Amino acid sequence: MLRAVIAVVACAQVAVAFNVGGSLPSLGLRHASASSILTQGRQRKTLTLANNKRAAQSLQSAAADSATTVAREAKKGRGQLRARPIGVGHAAPEVSISNADMEKIVETTGEWIQSRTGIENRHVLRGKETLRDLAIKAGKAAIKDAGINAEDIDLVIVATSSPDDMFGDAPSVATGVGASKNAFAFDLTAACSGFLFATVTASQFLNNGGHTTALVVGADALTRWVDWTDRNTCVLFGDGAGAMVLTSTEATEEGGILGFEMHSDGAGYCNLQLPYEQSDRAVGPEHSVIEGKYTPIGMNGKEVYKFATREVPEVIEEALANAGLTTDDVDHLLLHQANIRIMEIVAQRLGIPMEKVIHNLEEYGNTSAASIPLALAEAVRSGRIKKGDVIACAGFGAGLSWGSTIMRWG
Ligand code: UT7
Repeated sequence: MLRAVIAVVACAQVAVAFNVGGSLPSLGLRHASASSILTQGRQRKTLTLANNKRAAQSLQSAAADSATTVAREAKKGRGQLRARPIGVGHAAPEVSISNADMEKIVETTGEWIQSRTGIENRHVLRGKETLRDLAIKAGKAAIKDAGINAEDIDLVIVATSSPDDMFGDAPSVATGVGASKNAFAFDLTAACSGFLFATVTASQFLNNGGHTTALVVGADALTRWVDWTDRNTCVLFGDGAGAMVLTSTEATEEGGILGFEMHSDGAGYCNLQLPYEQSDRAVGPEHSVIEGKYTPIGMNGKEVYKFATREVPEVIEEALANAGLTTDDVDHLLLHQANIRIMEIVAQRLGIPMEKVIHNLEEYGNTSAASIPLALAEAVRSGRIKKGDVIACAGFGAGLSWGSTIMRWG
């Protein structure tokens, strides 16, 4: 059963699945039109593991485990939902920081970043650009792609851990895309799993019949929240947004959400966090209240890596079982864009060839909740994803949280 507890968890307590609502303080940035680079036809470099001895060793051990595919029973209510994706869009800030630039910021090399992560570049918000601008741009592109009127939308969910306003960005994003007349809107916080959790949440509204058209946006600007002197984290993250329009359907229709599975485990919370540091402040002669600030992202990369390579293949198999499918039915594997080595190991464990793995982290780095829709939108735009294709998506990250949806496109 999904534990949808809305709460703040302390380290090592099992708790949060996702947080509906904003979680971070406003940076006081004003709206501005952010131009985005939607680079088409870029050279995509698929990393081989030949230049990375340690990674090659871990891939070998993954291969040894990969034969053990467990027969799974489908879980009731986690199969097909009457919700079908009909449009996608994406946006990224114009300014980017290359690996060569990173060498001038922290003690690192482009070779280290590329061979250990697959990342070559990341886009960053600057000046008066806001996350809302990116979310609105991606949302408008998805609405245009869907060929619908923005007023047809009756639900907007913005998955983000880095909103412009801690009270939530979704209502202003809904207004920005022209959907405020009929839509209600809210933020959903589940870090890098946010887009998948939001997609399943929106699909439940559509499946239940009370709503007809949803806009789901994944948007994050984690470059605001990294310590730019910490080489362990600052080389990894970038900013961006991706969006998808879903419409309610009849269960018999071809496309749609075919199955899903989601998990969280607060016992791993310490391994990836953006915590609030608080202290007492006296107010008046008798009372004190808490004040403080959010501190930069802290990550135990090795533990998150182990968690991802262990849990992601599992959750994909669970979602496939719920969809009544197997890995043989998968046309595209689309994982959270954190590390190409994680994607290689997950693909290996599932017995899915790398040619089926969609990735664009070379260009954008890890854009948290935006990473899956950003890669999805690019793959649809380029014609790589075609009508009828089965896409196995999986997100994972802070919480810890992880999940998978199986979609048939078109
Ligand atoms: O969306 C959130 C999900 N997050 C993730 O999925 C992250 C998962 N973890 C990872 O992707 C990898 O663990 C990292 C890319 C973060 C790190 O790669 P690694 O191969 O696990 O490196 P490591 O942490 O074991 O560090 C190896 C060495 C260390 O030096 P020593 O202790 O061996 O001397 C690090 O200090 O590499 C050093 N190092 C760097 N060197 C150059 C760490 N970062 C850098 C860097 N440049 N940027």
